Amino acid sequence: MKKLVVISSSPRKDGNSETLAKEFIRGAMDAGNEAELIVLRDYDLKYCTGCYSCAKTGKCFMDDGMNEISQKLIAADVIVFATPVYFYSMSGQLKVMIDRLVPSYREMKADIYMIATQYDNDKEIMEMTFDSIRGATKYCFNNCEEKGLIYGTELWEKKDASVREDYLEQAYNMGKKI
Ligand SMILES: Cc1cc2nc3c(=O)[nH]c(=O)nc-3n(C[C@H](O)[C@H](O)[C@H](O)COP(=O)(O)O)c2cc1C
Repeated sequence: MKKLVVISSSPRKDGNSETLAKEFIRGAMDAGNEAELIVLRDYDLKYCTGCYSCAKTGKCFMDDGMNEISQKLIAADVIVFATPVYFYSMSGQLKVMIDRLVPSYREMKADIYMIATQYDNDKEIMEMTFDSIRGATKYCFNNCEEKGLIYGTELWEKKDASVREDYLEQAYNMGKKI
């Protein structure tokens, strides 16, 4: 049994990326794994101030829930980052959370999956968004390894993903195989 933590970073409840994230979780749980969905819009995460007090204390001085999220990510075997594409990049909400991982990212040792959803039908262009996340996951999280990607193209309105059987199936099956 693996411990899965899924970060949903869209401000839209039950939007496209969150719908696929939940299917991923459903697959993972059906295969006997433990899963937790962390919804960033339920938090009011502040920006990293770059003070580096965490280098001395091992945690952030701000008490806004980020230290608890960090502990969950450290304990995870599998982490999924789910994001809408915002101007060819990850959502601001996800970027703010990743910046807050300075005290904890070296301790993370998980398989990484990424789910992105966008209006555009160009899959290649979505690499820019994945690359924006890879700045952390590939170049900094040295004990983590990228294992899977979901390119949710041609998804615009909030409910578009919920009727895309192909994407739903892909997310479910990927979750099942973690
Ligand atoms: C601020 C903003 C920026 C966006 N930028 C892009 C973009 O660069 N490319 C694109 O194809 N779609 C873009 N979109 C559309 C969203 O990526 C698309 O609707 C996505 O499916 C939303 O996912 P969600 O429902 O999980 O929030 C943008 C939407 C917003 C609100």
